[in-house]
Amino acid sequence: MKILLLGAGGREHALAWKIAQSSILDELFIAPGNAGTRQYGKNVVLSPTDFEGIKEFVLKNNIDMVVVGPEEPLVLGIYDFFQADETIRHCAVIGPSKEGAKLEGSKHYAKEFMARHRIPTAKYGTFTSATLAEGIAFLSDMKAPYVLKADGLAAGKGVLIINDLATAIKELTSMLVDERFGKASEKVVIEQFLDGIELSVFVMTDGESFKLLPEAKDYKRIFDGNLGENTGGMGAVSPVPFADAGFMDKVHNQIIVPTVKGLKSQGIAYKGFIFFGLISVKGDPYVIEYNCRMGDPETEVVIPRLKSDILDLFEGIASNTLSERDIQFIDKSTATVMMVSGGYPNHFDKGLPIYGINNVVDSIVFHAGTTSDGPQVLTNGGRVLSVTSYGKNIEVAVDKCYDSIAKISFENAYCRKDIGRDVIK
Ligand code: AMP
Ligand code: GLY
Repeated sequence: MKILLLGAGGREHALAWKIAQSSILDELFIAPGNAGTRQYGKNVVLSPTDFEGIKEFVLKNNIDMVVVGPEEPLVLGIYDFFQADETIRHCAVIGPSKEGAKLEGSKHYAKEFMARHRIPTAKYGTFTSATLAEGIAFLSDMKAPYVLKADGLAAGKGVLIINDLATAIKELTSMLVDERFGKASEKVVIEQFLDGIELSVFVMTDGESFKLLPEAKDYKRIFDGNLGENTGGMGAVSPVPFADAGFMDKVHNQIIVPTVKGLKSQGIAYKGFIFFGLISVKGDPYVIEYNCRMGDPETEVVIPRLKSDILDLFEGIASNTLSERDIQFIDKSTATVMMVSGGYPNHFDKGLPIYGINNVVDSIVFHAGTTSDGPQVLTNGGRVLSVTSYGKNIEVAVDKCYDSIAKISFENAYCRKDIGRDVIK
């Protein structure tokens, strides 16, 4: 098969690494990719949202399948773009339709979907500038902390958790009236605060059946102890010890099955990954959010635990035969620790030389934000490298990550020192 993978982060490097191991791969292209993905295929200068450019590339290179890494092309409707054009309809797209991607693209849509299919989630109300007064009344009836969510995509920044009512009212007003998050906060979802521990669960689905992937826990805040600003994710581990068989049964029966059935019953085309952002409240799972793609850095711990040929599974998704495909996992723990540019998630420099990647032997160094100048790898983003290791348990895997990170350097490099610590007994 000839594959075009869209995206440029650690998630895409991990997917490229796995796709390159497939026995049915003929050629892999990554658009735009990074300095890491070029080890596994050809990087192509093409934006994941340039649908016309992608079409031209697919036709010229006889691509059989487009694997979509990030959410943006999905939310913009790349699946539908391919379906609507008879010259490229034969090329499979791994990712949901525009309607399916609304599970991530609109918090309000996701909440309505969950209410319709009785999927456990926090109680909520949705408000616009026209219903600001009702929104304020709704907030005043709730208890602190107050959870405000911009309806649309806001690059991970659209959720505010606020401790006092006066500030919550001020923020709600700023989101709705001043469009603090632009069009993304034209609508705001106000939610009941759920107190528990978070984890991420992933499935791949062909719209009929699904395959469960290993679960993961990510670390979103910039500083140790889950302090400071939110980031794209500073590290992850898999498996998640508290996600035992009893808990995962509840996730399966109360969340995954009703979601996949719900999509089907609503006639929503969905051929790709579903990412369930869950919270366990005293052992009961609730959905915090859906994403219509794999997580980053969760992919960097989940995909290394997949033993099966990923293209065989993707082919199953494309041909509605996923239920016939075998899926197996590697019975080891994985951890990934993100090396980021000093200053991230705010201002940081780019273009700094990275040294020592080749000295790493006990980990896989997935590139998250890199580019190259000849043989020299340079930083090219806030999140720079995702260093993944296997271990007989999470502790061993995490220790290996830190040993490997000690061999890598670039100016002002930073990482959290406590990835996985909270789940190590
Ligand atoms: P989201 O973008 O919806 O995943 O929200 C970002 C983060 O905000 C989540 O990872 C949670 O840590 C937190 N969060 C969101 N909704 C809630 C809620 N209802 N209760 C508690 N925490 C929440
Ligand atoms: N790590 C969280 C995400 O990918 O959205």
